[in-house]
Amino acid sequence: MNKERAAERIKKLSAEIEQHNHTYYLLDAPSISDFEFDKLLEELIQLEKEFPELISSNSPSQRVGGAITKEFKSVKHKYPMLSLSNSYSTEDLLDFDRKVQEGLGLKANDLFSTSPVNYVCELKFDGLSIGLTYKDGELQQAVTRGDGVQGDEVSTNVKTIKSIPLKLKGNYPPEFEIRGEIFLPRNVFDAINKEREEIGDAPLANPRNAASGTMKMQDSAVVASRKLDCFLYHVLGEALPFQNHFESLEAAKSWGFKISKDSRLFSNIQEVLAFIEHWDKERFNLPYDTDGVVIKVNDYQQQRQLGFTAKSPRWAIAYKFKAEQVSTELLSISYQVGRTGAITPVANLQPVALGGTTVKRASLHNADIIEKLDVRVGDMVYVEKGGEIIPKIIGVDLSKRKEGTEPTQYITHCPECGTELRRLESEANHYCPNEMACPPQVKGKMEHFVARKAMNIDSLGAETIEQLVNAGLVKNIADFYDLKKEHLLPLERMAEKSANNLIEGLEASKQVPFERVLYAIGIRHVGETTAKKIAKKVKSLEVLMQATREDLLEIDEVGEIIAVSIHDYFVDEKNKTIIQKLKDAGLQFELSEEQQQGASDKLNGLTFVISGVFAKYSRDQLKELIELHGGKNSSSISKKTSFVLAGENMGPEKLKKAQSAGVKLISEDDFILMIGA
Ligand code: IVH
Repeated sequence: MNKERAAERIKKLSAEIEQHNHTYYLLDAPSISDFEFDKLLEELIQLEKEFPELISSNSPSQRVGGAITKEFKSVKHKYPMLSLSNSYSTEDLLDFDRKVQEGLGLKANDLFSTSPVNYVCELKFDGLSIGLTYKDGELQQAVTRGDGVQGDEVSTNVKTIKSIPLKLKGNYPPEFEIRGEIFLPRNVFDAINKEREEIGDAPLANPRNAASGTMKMQDSAVVASRKLDCFLYHVLGEALPFQNHFESLEAAKSWGFKISKDSRLFSNIQEVLAFIEHWDKERFNLPYDTDGVVIKVNDYQQQRQLGFTAKSPRWAIAYKFKAEQVSTELLSISYQVGRTGAITPVANLQPVALGGTTVKRASLHNADIIEKLDVRVGDMVYVEKGGEIIPKIIGVDLSKRKEGTEPTQYITHCPECGTELRRLESEANHYCPNEMACPPQVKGKMEHFVARKAMNIDSLGAETIEQLVNAGLVKNIADFYDLKKEHLLPLERMAEKSANNLIEGLEASKQVPFERVLYAIGIRHVGETTAKKIAKKVKSLEVLMQATREDLLEIDEVGEIIAVSIHDYFVDEKNKTIIQKLKDAGLQFELSEEQQQGASDKLNGLTFVISGVFAKYSRDQLKELIELHGGKNSSSISKKTSFVLAGENMGPEKLKKAQSAGVKLISEDDFILMIGA
C-alpha cells in the first residue's frame, strides 16, 4: 500500500473505530462484535507501524495505552477551576434560592409559583475533576484541577478513557473547554481491590481515591486497564452559541460527550428539593458513587449577573447527601483473618434497617479506631452507610452506655491458629505472621495458586481445597502435585470423575507459562502485570532468585516494596523447599523457547475459534499459543474464521455454524502439528 492510500485507510478506520467506541461506551449498544472491533483496531495499529509518520496524536490506537509519562507537566487553567459551596439541608437550599432571586433583583416569590429562575439539577459525581480542551474538534489537552489555578497535564492517560471522545462530531465551536468528573465504576473498583487483596496489597480506600491514583500513573497501559469513565458537565469558552447551561449539555451530548441522562431542568426550588429527595435513596442503585446533587442557575445572562465569590460561583451550589445513620446494639466483636494474614475486627449488631437493607455486621477498622471510639460490647453504636457497601461504626451513644461494660481488649493472638499477632509501625492492621500454617492463609494461598489467572486449575475449587487441607493431604501449594487418585476418592462428594479431572487439571497446569507460575506462587505485592514484566526481564526463576535488590529495581513496575518482598520470599527456607518441589513436579520455571526467541509467525493471518474441551492444553493456553504464533482468536464463527479448533463436547450450534460457513474443523493434535510444538 502506498502512503496516500494508507492515509486514507487510516482516516476511515479511525472514524469507524471511534464510532463503535461511541455506540459501545455512550449508547450502551455495541454495534459490532468484540472480535470485529479488535480486527479494525489491529489493522489500524499495523498500518501505523508501517507508516509511523501517519500516526495522529488522537488516533484510536492511543486508547490502548503504552506511552509513559515520566513527569506530569504543570499547566495553568485558562479559566480557574473553582469549587462549589456546600449545602446540607432544605433551609440551606431555600436560602440559596432567596439569594439568587435577590441577586437578580427579583422578589423571592412564593414557593410553588414559577419563578423567572430555572435551575438545572445534576448528580454530583464523586471522582476527580478534569478540564478537556478541544480545538477544531480534536482533544488538545486534559488537565487535572490541581490547586484550581494550575493542574497536571494528563492527556496521555485521559486518552485511554473510552467514553472521552478524541474527535468530535456535529456542529461544535472551534475552540472550547469542557469539564467533568473522571470516576471508577463500583464494580471495577471491587475487582481491583479483590486482586490487590489476593497479592497482599492494601485495598484502595474508595473509588474516588482509586480514580485519582490511577490518573497519576506513569504507564498509560495500566491506566487503560483500569476502565475509568467520565461524565462531562460544564462547557466553557468565548462566544458559545447557547443561552443557557441545559442547552450546552444537550449540544455537548451531540458532539459525542458522555452527559448524565439524569440531569433535569426545573422552574422552582420545590422541584429541586423533590429531585434531591428522590436521589437521596435512589443513589445506592447507581453503578458509581455520587455524594450529592449540584444545582445550577440555567440562564447564562443570570449566571453572569450573579458572578462569583473568591472561591465559587454564586449561581451554583452543591447539596451533600447525609450518610444514612442508625443506632443499634453492639452484640459482639469478631476477628477475621484474611488470606494475607491481616486481621479485621467486625462488629456483630442487633439487626437494623439501613439504606434499604438489613445490617447485621459492620466494619470496626482496626485497633486504633476501636480505642479512639471506645467501642464496647453492649453499647448502642451509630452505624453509617456511605458510598461503601459495608457499613461502618462511626460512634457510640455514651448516654445509653450500660453499667459494668468493659473497654474492648483487642486480641493478642490469632483466632485461627493461636499465633501471637504482630503489627508493623507503618500499618494500621495487626496481622498473623504464621503464613505457612494459619488455615485461612494457607487456604488463601492455595486458592490464589489455582485461580484462573494463575495456574487455572478449575477442577480444584475452594471447597475441595478446604477438604484437602482438613484431611491433612496438603499443607502447601507444592503438595498438590503429590496427590494421587486414591488419596482423593475417600473424600466426601469426590466421585471418580471429579478425581480424574483434578489430577488432569494438575497435570495440565505443568504447561502454564512461567509468568503465570510466578504470579501463582503468591509473592506478596507481585500482581499479574508485575509478574509478566519480571518474567520477561529475568527469563527464569533461577535468575530471579539470585537477583540483587539493584537488579530488581531495574525492572519496570518494581519499586522498593516489591523488591524487598521478592528478596524476603526467596531467602525463606520454607519457600525454597516449596519452589524446589514445584520444580521437581515439572512446572515451568523459565520462559519457553518460543517466548525467549520471540513468537513464530506460523499462524500469521489465521483466525481461530476455540470450542469444546481439550486433553493437552486448557482453552486459555491454546489461546496464548495461537497469539504466540501470530494467529488471532475470535469468539464467534464467521466467513472470516480460518479454523475451528474443536475439542470434545463442542456445541451443536457452533458445529452447524462452522459447516454452513464452510470453516474447517481441526483437532488439538492437528493444531499441535501446525505450530510444530
Ligand atoms: S460544576 C463552577 N457539576 O464537585 C462549576 N461539579 O465541589 C463547578 N462535581 O470541583 C463544577 N459533579 O469536581 C459540577 N455535576 C457536577 C459535578 C461537579 C461533581 C465536582 C467537581 C467540582 C466539585 C465542586
